[in-house]
Amino acid sequence: MQLTFTRPDDWHLHVRDGAGLQSVISATARCFGRAIIMPNLKPPVVTIADALAYRERIIAALPADSAFQPLMTLYLTDNTRIADIEQLSQTPEVVAVKYYPAGATTNSDAGVTDLRNVWGVLEAMQDAGIPLLIHGEVTASSVDVFDREYMFIRHILDPLLEAFPTLKVVLEHITTSEAVDFVRAGEDRLAATITAHHLLMNRNALFTGGIRPHHYCLPVLKREIHRETLVDAAISGSPRFFLGTDSAPHPRQAKESACGCAGMYSAPIAIELYAEIFEQMNALDKLEAFASFYGPDFYGLPRNSEQITLQKTDWTLPESFNFGEDQVIPLRAGKTIHWQLESAS
Ligand code: DOR
Ligand code: ZN
Repeated sequence: MQLTFTRPDDWHLHVRDGAGLQSVISATARCFGRAIIMPNLKPPVVTIADALAYRERIIAALPADSAFQPLMTLYLTDNTRIADIEQLSQTPEVVAVKYYPAGATTNSDAGVTDLRNVWGVLEAMQDAGIPLLIHGEVTASSVDVFDREYMFIRHILDPLLEAFPTLKVVLEHITTSEAVDFVRAGEDRLAATITAHHLLMNRNALFTGGIRPHHYCLPVLKREIHRETLVDAAISGSPRFFLGTDSAPHPRQAKESACGCAGMYSAPIAIELYAEIFEQMNALDKLEAFASFYGPDFYGLPRNSEQITLQKTDWTLPESFNFGEDQVIPLRAGKTIHWQLESAS
């Protein structure tokens, strides 16, 4: 069996910088036409100049014949300037602004400490039609780690959408049935990305036979009922749920440590994993729109015109990949993958 469809895009991706970037970028470029590049570098990508320079480094790291296009984002901080937002309408290379609540995840220390500090910036984004991409988790230590997304939706996102009635928002890497319900009930200016790992695994995967650092990400995996709801949303044909891998490579030692960091590296097998879950659900006919249509439609960008082909065939993923001087352990390391990207035209 094979599946040929419009080349997909990845609407949520971490590619890091320097030698690490060089190692991982082709895993995404082999398959995806474009990707929204997350700005949580150290230091973060806060100005347009930072984003354009980062974009040049990404393009320089691509294989020579690649047509892959990085879509850049700015990292929202308490000090983001309204003038920078106003300039975005003349900067097509930068398509969105990312909001990390301070302390929510990897390299989020510079994130927003209080949304009131960025009210003017959000107004300017609303006026200019710039989407706000949200890491939707509260950070209070009193809130259970599994409830952080739900609490964010209720206490932060809902009032935010009310205060900015036309701001475009993407709730990134959703993990709960509450998030699915909220997006479904919302307006067209609200959408969500869904990762392959949240579609494939529930929170048991963190503890199968012992602690599994390579299955730790943020937002953390949730109960099976939530996974099932995410799958329903992904295959529902609703244009407000689309593909975003959140592939987030880390050096092996940073994950396999006394304080292992969050992030799963799925880029080498991302579209293959989405195909696996859509096939399991007998919904392969819904994959193209989820992976290739709804994202560009939401962002107001053209759909890709090329196609890719996936073959239904078993092959074994390597145990690790080079990551600069280090190694990165991919999701499904050393395991059988059931689909294989064949060709691009
Ligand atoms: O698991 C995650 N890893 N979640 C994030 O939000 C950030 C990401 C990273 O940059 O490693
Ligand atoms: Zn991310």
